[in-house]
Amino acid sequence: MSITTIEIPTDNKTQFLQETLKGLQSEPKFMLSKYFYDAIGDRIFQQIMDMEEYYLTNAEMEILQNQSAQLSEAISADGTAFDLIELGAGDATKSIYLLESLLDAQMEFSYFPIDISEHVIADLEENLPKKLSSLDITGLNGDYFDMLKKAAELSDRRKVVLFMGANIGNMNVADAESFCLSLKQLLAPKDLLIIGFDLKKNPQQILDAYNDKGGITRSFNLNLLHRINKELDGDFNIDQFEHYASYDPASGACKSYLISLKNQIVNIGHHVIQFAENEHIFMEISQKYSLDDIDQLATKTGFKPIQRFFDQKQYFVDAIWRVD
Ligand SMILES: C[S@@+](CC[C@H](N)C(=O)[O-])C[C@H]1O[C@@H](n2cnc3c(N)ncnc32)[C@H](O)[C@@H]1O
Repeated sequence: MSITTIEIPTDNKTQFLQETLKGLQSEPKFMLSKYFYDAIGDRIFQQIMDMEEYYLTNAEMEILQNQSAQLSEAISADGTAFDLIELGAGDATKSIYLLESLLDAQMEFSYFPIDISEHVIADLEENLPKKLSSLDITGLNGDYFDMLKKAAELSDRRKVVLFMGANIGNMNVADAESFCLSLKQLLAPKDLLIIGFDLKKNPQQILDAYNDKGGITRSFNLNLLHRINKELDGDFNIDQFEHYASYDPASGACKSYLISLKNQIVNIGHHVIQFAENEHIFMEISQKYSLDDIDQLATKTGFKPIQRFFDQKQYFVDAIWRVD
């Protein structure tokens, strides 16, 4: 077992402030969903994953629990050593099944979980080796591409990139295309990407997953205002903002917003932000895909779709793409 932590050189707090101000000074206002995940956000996201309405986690969990051996076979088909790089690893509760299968198959690989949340990386480095004692793990705390470049500097083995949890859905379709293009440019021919998509399905079922009766998704969104208050010297009155979610079955876009309940002024440090009554802050998109949409995204961005793994209800797909 070996454990290494890579420190990120960038000033996270300055970047958080700059990106928050940029979003709140835009018209319409927006926030970046990557900032949801402080220690409290990580905890609330765990609760979301446990919610009855949030079918996504169980669906992808079923794929990993039941089909990791097949995934592992596909990854290790050419028998050479590789780096398994997971973008936005979270608590790795699903990827652990794949890691186990790869270790059982005695594959030679190193695991590089990447996550913007410091807490997530510290937790993985502490706890994964307790469960998988022979795992070679190097945690990378920072933004996807910065850390992917770091991983490429650390090793020149072939890359297998994991991008699960429908994280790609947290980008609109145009951004997902540029993301996949940039990702492809950081990879070499024959490198693999395993990427999870939430599939288009009954619209009400999708909306319920992002607008639960217990108000957990609401707390998750409002937590970002708490985080700004704590970390950036903000004075959001949280009670004066409400969560609103919508799903458009035509485009497959599920979007969440915070709505200002009155005309109000919010200070962030010495910056002043004005809100009109009913003005919205766009918080997050969760884009849903058809199988055709997914194949088109692959071929448009330089990947070749190789294999698909579904849960029994076909709610979710983990697709394997190869750099063409
Ligand atoms: C929705 S969770 C999914 C976690 C895990 N992949 C799963 O399927 O359960 C998203 C994770 O990605 C991380 N994340 C979000 N945006 C990121 C970014 N730009 N760079 C690095 N990590 C990011 C978050 O901190 C969080 O742990």
